[in-house]
Amino acid sequence: MDVIRSVDTMQALALGWRARGKKVGFVPTMGYLHQGHTTLIELMRQRCELLIVSIYVNPLQFGPSEDLSRYPRDPKGDAAKCRAAGCDVLFMPDNLYPSDFRTKVHVDGVTTRWEGAERPSHFEGVATVVCRLFGLVQPTAAMFGEKDFQQFTVLKSMARDLAMGIEIIPGPLVRDHDGLALSSRNVYLSPEDRRRALTLHQALYALRDSRSQSAAERIAAGRAILDCDSLDYLAIVDPETLEPVELVDRPLRAIATARYGRTRLLDNVAIAP
Ligand code: PAF
Repeated sequence: MDVIRSVDTMQALALGWRARGKKVGFVPTMGYLHQGHTTLIELMRQRCELLIVSIYVNPLQFGPSEDLSRYPRDPKGDAAKCRAAGCDVLFMPDNLYPSDFRTKVHVDGVTTRWEGAERPSHFEGVATVVCRLFGLVQPTAAMFGEKDFQQFTVLKSMARDLAMGIEIIPGPLVRDHDGLALSSRNVYLSPEDRRRALTLHQALYALRDSRSQSAAERIAAGRAILDCDSLDYLAIVDPETLEPVELVDRPLRAIATARYGRTRLLDNVAIAP
């Protein structure tokens, strides 16, 4: 596995692979890799000839009250995990943006609610960094985990709207042995908060397994189970538009974000009527 830190080297290599018609798979990450990430890397490995993983903690997607410097990092451990999962090139730029960088990528509609409402400018930061990474890495396909369901929807819309010619593939949400959705942020949970955090997926499962046709009734069933310090949202949405629905009459997605101490946890499940 090669480790590349320079954006110019990365793009020069990528353009060469593209000219030779290689199928290049890409898994962008912010590092501190867990089994959720390595699952994406292993799945992408099977679909491409060259596999690139990026690790870059993107300042643009952090709000002013969100502590960028507190984001967990483990470059050595990450490199070992990437190598073991079959990565060919690990792109770990120290700095991704030139000093006079002046472009922002804004995706409309699907960014306004949920994470978009809680974290203004977050998705602009995500879309901008992924767009730049796509330009540097020139992938034919990229995989994003469904754990961040809204992020996946935003990036799928961006790639389609801008005719990027990159296949955006959903990767599965991976859970711990007790059902907690794997997240780099789980390390911040106290043992007590981690125990309470299990009610997040339990609430989503209750809502999924309810027989009611009413979204409001299903959400009430989920809320009855949930034990958290505060709930940002618990909703049943259309999986394409992310608009909330009233009736559970087609395949939908239940999404939730709750806070435990200072830690925000996201989770979601697919709902079949
Ligand atoms: O999901 C993430 O880790 C990040 O939002 C991404 C897609 C790598 C962009 O920084």
